[in-house]
Amino acid sequence: MRWLIAVAFLSACAGPAPRASTPKPWGFAGQDFVVAADHPAASEAGVRMLAAGGNAVDAAAATSLALSVVRPQSAGLGGGGFMLLTLAGKKPVFVDYRETAPGAAEPAAYLGADGRPVPGKTEAGPWAVGVPGQLRGIPVLLAKLGTKTLAEALVPAIELAEKGFPVDKVLHAAMLDMAGRIAAAAEPRRYDEISRIFLKDGRPYAAGEVLFQPDLAAALRRLASEGAEKFYLGAFSDAVLKVAGAEAGGPMTREDLDGYALSERRPLSGTYRGRTVLSAPPPSSGGACVLQILGTMEGFSPKRLRRPEGTALLVESMKHAFADRARLLGDPDVHPEVEENAAAMLAPRHIRELRRKVGVGRTAAPETYGVQSLPDDGGTTHYSILDAQGNAIAATETINLYFGSLLVAPGLGIVLNNQMDDFAISTTAANAFGLRQSELNLVGPGRKPLSSMSPTIILERGSPTAALGGSGGPLIITGTVQSILNAVDGGMAPDEAVAAPRVHHQWSPDVVRFDAEVPAETRALLLKRGHRLEPFAGESAVQMVTRQGGELRGGSDPRKGGRPDGR
Ligand code: GLY
Repeated sequence: MRWLIAVAFLSACAGPAPRASTPKPWGFAGQDFVVAADHPAASEAGVRMLAAGGNAVDAAAATSLALSVVRPQSAGLGGGGFMLLTLAGKKPVFVDYRETAPGAAEPAAYLGADGRPVPGKTEAGPWAVGVPGQLRGIPVLLAKLGTKTLAEALVPAIELAEKGFPVDKVLHAAMLDMAGRIAAAAEPRRYDEISRIFLKDGRPYAAGEVLFQPDLAAALRRLASEGAEKFYLGAFSDAVLKVAGAEAGGPMTREDLDGYALSERRPLSGTYRGRTVLSAPPPSSGGACVLQILGTMEGFSPKRLRRPEGTALLVESMKHAFADRARLLGDPDVHPEVEENAAAMLAPRHIRELRRKVGVGRTAAPETYGVQSLPDDGGTTHYSILDAQGNAIAATETINLYFGSLLVAPGLGIVLNNQMDDFAISTTAANAFGLRQSELNLVGPGRKPLSSMSPTIILERGSPTAALGGSGGPLIITGTVQSILNAVDGGMAPDEAVAAPRVHHQWSPDVVRFDAEVPAETRALLLKRGHRLEPFAGESAVQMVTRQGGELRGGSDPRKGGRPDGR
């Protein structure tokens, strides 16, 4: 059904779609508050806080904690994330609780005798794990800006872990992927713990089978009773060190864990057709890319963007944004010039130049755009919240690839991230595409790897009217942009905006990925302009909420099976 909508924005002749009156099964309409997460139980967890008088921060904490149970392949206490908040009467703030590299994570540790990155070392096992930020993110924010206790916010998550929940086809597919990674691993026995928890007699749970997580339930109960700091420094750190520290041949130390602290940053800000758009600053590339693509597109009329040519212009602007990303962005705490680089990506002169370049017709060879490549990944989760007090939250959290490093904190049932895979390991060794990677994102002690996460909030006359973002590695950026274009230029409600077919180009590899429902005429034009086309293999999933007048709307991307909730 979602594909009928698609044609409304991407086809040649349709005008802006009328705002839908009845939400789709993956949509919501109400008046007081709305939460859109990529699992229905996580949206419900947030709504429980709001219905009990809590605010958007309380809802974010409960949603995040529930996601750690029902989306264990994507996020959780062994990972990290970014949260963008516009709270009524306060300055917008971007909170960074992304993982950092352990102190021993020097590039040489990841290179083989041939000077090339050791295959898989950043993907699975102890060297793949970044110092998790989640437990020093969500509980800290809740204590500072929420009204509920951590124990209250944990109630839905504990119930889901204890009573179990039916595995859906998204989790089933992630389990299948995990089983394949373990079968191909050099030391499969290292991953016995994750197999014990997430495989049933060695096979993925079928969709509909109930997954119980007693270890995680006990860990969450302990977190509720001990409090975040005691739990983090004690049981959690002890368990992480067992599988990612010296005992396991890994780099993680107690000092790495003790030293983790969240960072507050200023969001990047841009405009789109009279609206203010706030999004993620470095160490995410998300905001710079989203705002650059929107800025480029703003130079063309909505009518022109609705034609097949509009998709070609969009694809070309994606290529430029991703080439700039690879060349210019990294950890601003290590490379202060990264902040200037992000500003340069959004400078009016650069945007004007990009508008000229994307309009020239035939696409150009990748080396014309830049000289670096970027890593690929596919896990991650996102939730968006609007509450009755006018607060808005967009948060994206991740353990990177599905089931992260394949390591679980023993006895706690907490999956540990493989965020180290978002770093460049070498600036001299060419990668599989014959391209070199940027020094600005080179792995190093205490650094944060470059991210694509793009939590975004749109303001009109100073008030939040939309919050959105997604999962899916680099596809997050293009999924977020197209959902904004669908809503602002296409007049779509969020359930329509997130469901419409999308295209994606990340500059390297030099290929346009597309949903099968992208019109044939559009695909023909892209081919004529010299693009190579491939159907999507994996997709982004966008969660979006909006406020229009007195009405709140939510849309959870049907690609990942979420459903918004609210009142
Ligand atoms: N690991 C997903 C991202 O940060 O982009």
